[in-house]
Amino acid sequence: MEAEIIDSRFLRPCGEETGGAGVLPFTMVIFGGSGDLSRRKLMPTLYHLHGKESLDGFTVIGFGRHDLDDEAFRGSMKKAITEFGDEPPDDTQWNDFGRRLYFLSGDYEDDAAYRRLLELIERISVRTGGAIDVIYYLAVPPEVVPAIVEKIRQNRRDNEGLREKIIVEKPFGRDRASASALNRLLTTAFREEQIYRIDHYLGKETVQNILFLRFSNAIFEQLWNNRHIDHVQITVAEEIGIEHRGSFYEQAGVVRDMVQNHILQLIAMVAMEPPVGFQADFIRDEKTKIFRSVRPVDRKYIDTSMVRGQYGKGMTGTEEIAGYRQEEGVAKDSCIPTFFAGKFHIDNLRWAGVPFYVRTGKRLPKRISEICIQLRQLPLRLFGHTCDVMEPNVLILTIQPDARISLRFNVQYPHTAGQIHAVDMKLGYRETFRTAIHPSYERQILDCIRGDLTLFVRQDSIEAMWEIVDPVISRWNECGPDDFPNYAAGTWGPEAAKRLIEQDGRRWITG
Ligand SMILES: NC(=O)c1ccc[n+]([C@@H]2O[C@H](COP(=O)([O-])OP(=O)(O)OC[C@H]3O[C@@H](n4cnc5c(N)ncnc54)[C@H](OP(=O)(O)O)[C@@H]3O)[C@@H](O)[C@H]2O)c1
Repeated sequence: MEAEIIDSRFLRPCGEETGGAGVLPFTMVIFGGSGDLSRRKLMPTLYHLHGKESLDGFTVIGFGRHDLDDEAFRGSMKKAITEFGDEPPDDTQWNDFGRRLYFLSGDYEDDAAYRRLLELIERISVRTGGAIDVIYYLAVPPEVVPAIVEKIRQNRRDNEGLREKIIVEKPFGRDRASASALNRLLTTAFREEQIYRIDHYLGKETVQNILFLRFSNAIFEQLWNNRHIDHVQITVAEEIGIEHRGSFYEQAGVVRDMVQNHILQLIAMVAMEPPVGFQADFIRDEKTKIFRSVRPVDRKYIDTSMVRGQYGKGMTGTEEIAGYRQEEGVAKDSCIPTFFAGKFHIDNLRWAGVPFYVRTGKRLPKRISEICIQLRQLPLRLFGHTCDVMEPNVLILTIQPDARISLRFNVQYPHTAGQIHAVDMKLGYRETFRTAIHPSYERQILDCIRGDLTLFVRQDSIEAMWEIVDPVISRWNECGPDDFPNYAAGTWGPEAAKRLIEQDGRRWITG
């Protein structure tokens, strides 16, 4: 019975490639084709997928204002794959891959450019059953997105036989109102099932695995509620700063850049109820319910249970690191936060009384993303005073840099009479399955080609997520920080982030 409702993609044995046969020919149009995302992620991903023979009969068109011809675009993408791919392109593979790349120069608001684009798509694409599968990838800054969507809609011809999908990158809007406006615009041009709002965190193997761990193991699912769980912690720490993206970050800040999307998605994966099945909409329904159950925060709550930070100069090892305000493109008196810590509550029967502590920031001591689920202590006095220092059981899901699951529990230390010692039982994906973890873009691009929306964010979720963070952004805009910069680069954020959890008698586990 189960097998009938579970998507067979999810039933593959562990470690089997997710590529392989079954990928139909397609044409991907990358708007902003010569930009950073295209060079750093999209081209190396497509090249890697092509190398695994997952892709056949495909073509890629870079679209942008740059004055490039096909040969110059191919040369530039070969360089990008050399720089950002796993290994330099191999001649034989490159010859087949490179010839599938085209570039079309044009302005994003010029109708004639879109007509030329349609002609090019028709000329170079492989048809399936008389139609062409086209994926528009919007790899452009958000302010350019509306014009492109509008122009695709206006220049579309009814009889051209295109089966279209569109991938939209984060940030998806700047707040609830702009996200709704963008959703309305997108749905004038595409049906919801053609729209792939990407959050690359959802493509990470360990993030997907949260659902498998929860729903396929009696040992965990039985305990996954407020009777047994004391609290949940989520840390998404970046060692890097803003990497020459100062002007982008000045418009975004940590709440828009990380909390509204990655952090809330992680909360939903941990907190959602079991879906009816593993089809995209069943999973997305459950996540949306969680976003709607997150307790709304008011000004008083934000002031007492949320912490903002901005890094000043500091050291990593012997290297001196500039503060945020010294970065290129950043105002000398910028009040943009680069660190967030906060406590969320989910008001439903499963989670009532279980706080979710989250923490994310730039220029922290190391790159690590981790979810820690701490269980309640046993009400036991069996071991006398040892009970007072006994470590609680913690399930730790490490998402990056290495995908890992660990369970902390207590044993008697050898050769002692009753000395309790906490140990971690660990499962490392790489060692256990002897396979590399697929980069998230690879999985999500393949899913989009195949038409699987599970790992993409639906319109209602996006808007509900903005509703959670909008009050925080507004509150922090209306009352400027008086202590920025308040943490040194290379440290775990402002002292207030420690106090936030310690005042509840708990402590950050990741570190
Ligand atoms: N870069 C990443 O690693 C990364 C990761 C996650 C998400 N994203 C998201 O992906 C999208 C694209 O990011 P990106 O880093 O590739 O951006 P980008 O390099 O700044 O811009 C991409 C391309 O967009 C075109 N463009 C059109 N109007 C522009 C304007 N007003 N200003 C600048 N460029 C303009 C440019 O190409 P032409 O001049 O040829 O038109 C440019 O090369 C953004 O939404 C970003 O948040 C990026």
